[in-house]
Amino acid sequence: MDHSNYEIDPMITAKSIAARVEELAREISTHFTDTEKLIVVGLLRGSFVFIADLVRELELPCEVDFLEASSYGNSTESSREVRILKDLRGEIEGRDVLVVEDIVDTGRTLKHVLHLLQSRDPKRLEVCALLDKPSRREVDVKARWIGFEIPDEFVVGYGIDYAQRNRNLDHIGKVRFKT
Ligand code: IMP
Ligand code: MG
Repeated sequence: MDHSNYEIDPMITAKSIAARVEELAREISTHFTDTEKLIVVGLLRGSFVFIADLVRELELPCEVDFLEASSYGNSTESSREVRILKDLRGEIEGRDVLVVEDIVDTGRTLKHVLHLLQSRDPKRLEVCALLDKPSRREVDVKARWIGFEIPDEFVVGYGIDYAQRNRNLDHIGKVRFKT
């Protein structure tokens, strides 16, 4: 029995996600084709499904590491701060690094993380985000690769949660509150 006060409307099918992940992996593999080793950095927790699918399509030597950032602060989103809750295990100095994010929304999380990682002097630092909500952007930050551009809707599934639920959906859906 589900007592939740919302429903989930399908938005992006599992099949189209898989097709897009394959394309992204091909582009990333081409871009980093000469790499000694790519450090793929997943931002926890939302990217865990995406990164699992993506790395299996990469035709590159790679390592996987994770970083957890969390935004908090008062209710006005523009003054939110970003904290690092879990840092990388490995060094990235002189390395090729690909940050894998679930959604770029205001862009604050990504901007903070990129600033931090850049300070460690990687050789190359690029970003692949599954979803982008460009209409929500508050700071100037760009992912080199984007899976899908979406409108300003609250989405779940394929690793992405609403109050920690629905990460296990195999597709992306949008949350609709019952009235
Ligand atoms: P930003 O710092 O505003 O770009 O926030 C990005 C983070 O907010 C993402 O990594 C998600 O964890 C979360 N987020 C943004 N939009 C959604 C959404 O529609 N559903 C679930 N989480 C979201
Ligand atoms: Mg996130």
